[in-house]
Amino acid sequence: MKIQFSLNTQPVTLDVDPTRTFLDVVRKELGLTGTKQGCDYEGECGACTVLVNNQPVRSCLTPVGKVAGKQVTTIEGLGSPDNLHPLQQSFIETGAVQCGYCTPGMLLTAKALLDREVLPEREQILSEMAGNLCRCTGYNRIVEAVEKTAQILQGETEQRDSPPLPGPLGRESTRRIDAEEKVTGRTKFVEDIKHPGTLYLQVLRSPHHYARLLELDTGPAEKVLGVIRVLTASDIPGENGLGDYSSHEPVLTPVGETCKHQGAPVALIIAADQKAANQGTEAISVHYQVLPHFFQVDEALAEDAPQLYPNGNILSRNTINHGDLDLAFDRSDVIVNCTYQTAWQEHSALERETVLGYYDNHTRLCLVGGNHEPHWHQGYIAASLDLDPAEVRVITPPTGGSFGGKQDPWPFIATALAVYHTGQPVLLAYSRKESFDASPKRHPYQVTHKLGATREGKLTGIQVRIDANTGGYDAHGQYLTDFALSGAGGPYEYQAVDAVARSIFTNGPKAGQYRGFGSPQSSFALECALDELAQALDQDPVKFRLANQLPQEANSFLGYPVGESLGYREVLEEIQPHYQSLVNQAAEFNRSQPADSQLRKGVGFSGMWYRFGKSGSLQVKAEMEIQSDGKLILYCSGPDYGQGTSTAMTRIAAQELGIPPGQIQIINADTAYTPDSGIQGASRTTYFVGGAVQKTARIMKHTLLTTAAELLDCPPEELNLSENRVASCRNDQSLPLEEIGRELDRLNISRRVSGELDLSPYFPAGQRPQYLPLYVTGAQTAEVLVDLKTGTVRVPKITAVHDVGHAINPIDARGQVEGAILMGLGTALMEEYLPGHTAGFGDYYLPTSMSAPVIETILIEVPSFHGPFGAKGLGEAAIVPTAPAIINGISRTIGRRIRTLPATPERVLSALKTGQDRG
Ligand code: FES
Repeated sequence: MKIQFSLNTQPVTLDVDPTRTFLDVVRKELGLTGTKQGCDYEGECGACTVLVNNQPVRSCLTPVGKVAGKQVTTIEGLGSPDNLHPLQQSFIETGAVQCGYCTPGMLLTAKALLDREVLPEREQILSEMAGNLCRCTGYNRIVEAVEKTAQILQGETEQRDSPPLPGPLGRESTRRIDAEEKVTGRTKFVEDIKHPGTLYLQVLRSPHHYARLLELDTGPAEKVLGVIRVLTASDIPGENGLGDYSSHEPVLTPVGETCKHQGAPVALIIAADQKAANQGTEAISVHYQVLPHFFQVDEALAEDAPQLYPNGNILSRNTINHGDLDLAFDRSDVIVNCTYQTAWQEHSALERETVLGYYDNHTRLCLVGGNHEPHWHQGYIAASLDLDPAEVRVITPPTGGSFGGKQDPWPFIATALAVYHTGQPVLLAYSRKESFDASPKRHPYQVTHKLGATREGKLTGIQVRIDANTGGYDAHGQYLTDFALSGAGGPYEYQAVDAVARSIFTNGPKAGQYRGFGSPQSSFALECALDELAQALDQDPVKFRLANQLPQEANSFLGYPVGESLGYREVLEEIQPHYQSLVNQAAEFNRSQPADSQLRKGVGFSGMWYRFGKSGSLQVKAEMEIQSDGKLILYCSGPDYGQGTSTAMTRIAAQELGIPPGQIQIINADTAYTPDSGIQGASRTTYFVGGAVQKTARIMKHTLLTTAAELLDCPPEELNLSENRVASCRNDQSLPLEEIGRELDRLNISRRVSGELDLSPYFPAGQRPQYLPLYVTGAQTAEVLVDLKTGTVRVPKITAVHDVGHAINPIDARGQVEGAILMGLGTALMEEYLPGHTAGFGDYYLPTSMSAPVIETILIEVPSFHGPFGAKGLGEAAIVPTAPAIINGISRTIGRRIRTLPATPERVLSALKTGQDRG
């Protein structure tokens, strides 16, 4: 059927099935890929928003026939890099763009609002944006961008070319190097990349929580028209596993073995199109023996529990013991004993797990997809295909969020297998339901603390027991216990410690890396237990922590000293007046309420430390090249999934060289070009890779200045690098960089230099713990508003104080804090994955703009000993104190302790009625 409409002011005539969604038509038929899909065509995420006759609509729910005769605007029609719409400009300036996956939809929704309302209020903007999910920013920057645009359009303020936000010490921020591409919809995420002849990969997954695979007949599927191949475990030429990432997990379950969680993969169906892939998946004949399953650690530890592995259901166990605990408790005037329970959480990155694979001209197998360490994935893929790693290339494209989820190499290995067997390009794109079923989750914890203190408020002893639920496969769960213990003790000084953490298999979803890997759950329990103790002692919670904060030189809870500057005292001193001010305001609010009001305001507080840097080599490399035309290229591996690492690395290099960041091009996280920098998890990138980048830039500067010194016949100390020249500070002699590049060629000296950050002399092998004792600290205070009748909780304001060592790009550092806070708010109030029930955004409640508190972010800079310009890791740390601050706020407000996450209205009401929150 012929359909005519106007698209971005141009007339379009199409001959298409009118029932097809506009989303599919605009992406596949018209090639405009700025409009995104994030939720299985269910209208739940808003990433596909377009304007139809200036009204925002979900293009995934809109049949193309419905736009006939209408005017449609997609992100490509809003503005171009040369001619940005004021909204696009404001999004860049205010830091409203992180991964950018939600950005096109956000911009168009905002455009419709501003077309209707001249100067909308904050509440109006929040309400308008409520249908557009953003997992990265925390929404506040988006609101700010809309407010600012409204003022610009009304002539009340001027558009600026650079971000106006100053950082600590007045440092200005740099605009993100990828922001213009993102606000104009030009960024190519994996699903937007076109390769002729691309096949579709679909996965047959076990529908059972625990079952033995008895029979798998792929014959009927192979007869389906359009199905090219069906692969099972026997088609894996190398290792049927995920290597060190998840040592118990097969790529595909072999016949005769068990599938240990719902969604465990059994077969891969490769087809010419999606429809054939669907039909092929349904045609496979598969039989299981369904086995009794269990989800809870208590069930896993029961005497008669089925044992999921020959060594039993306990994956790992870590302990810490020092001091005389009995004596410490004997000396205590108050002891609290409390158990806290956290929930499974799903990352919910707006871009689903997606990988494109193909052979390049060098007959190398290339995989393009969001990841945390391309070289590790390269190794895993090569092992499964029995190839030399050099035959595999992993490329990291712009990535629509990860938060740890995209560390899982499974989608890469599966796609590589499909390319290997067909020789053709293959795309694997999880559905949102698959993402919920099969991607790793945050581990639920059960944590019991026994904490003692003297009447004067000095901590004495601490006993901790942690059981972490790692699900059916390990996904690094064996390392989790170390991080669990780190969070369970925090930056406090104790006389004696007895701590045990266990990682336990169940038939829940595999749990893995998730912003803060293992620390937020135990920190939550600790900070709530400390709050109980402070209340029992009738002490101010901030002063109580100040009195017990770990001195820089002392042995920590873990039994050894910290290896970085701590900064916790500075954090607590900074937040103290903010906490007190909110407490006073809450008291005033409650006094002013009518007698029959059901609303109560309260304030919660939490401190924290977070061990950043994780594991991996202490020697990290980066490289830099001056091209023969004078351009500088930086090569490093610090995957950017929206947190802004590419911008940060460029800024570090520029700062060291003394030139504008725009003069440096970065090639980031591509195994064909960039050195292996180890895993980029645990907020390691800025500190480790940034440190290597700084060293590399220093070497490049030295190379440029010494070469120029020869040419100009003057000492290198008298030369400066500025813009694209080396100039003498004594006279007006100067040389363009391209001339230096040519001179290096003439001298047969490499134009590429390599620099290394090497921390091994500071932390010698054999004398250091398995994980470096590198910490960042922070604290947050949350204002909460509780409806005693309904149990609903709102969080109007959060004040966050974080020591970042040095904010490389202040606007992005703030953005990381704000995004983490909203994620932490989800942890506290609404996010809970229930195996066998939760299938997508429809039944997993994420914070929307309506949940967004006002966030005041204060960055403290206590310089690190080893990081670039004194920087520390930040991205994950800011999530740690949010949930305990909110829960402590609720508990203090209602006079009952909430000990189970999330604090749903049912749990709050249950606590109010019965004193127990397990409603
Ligand atoms: Fe909004 Fe990433 S910037 S989802």
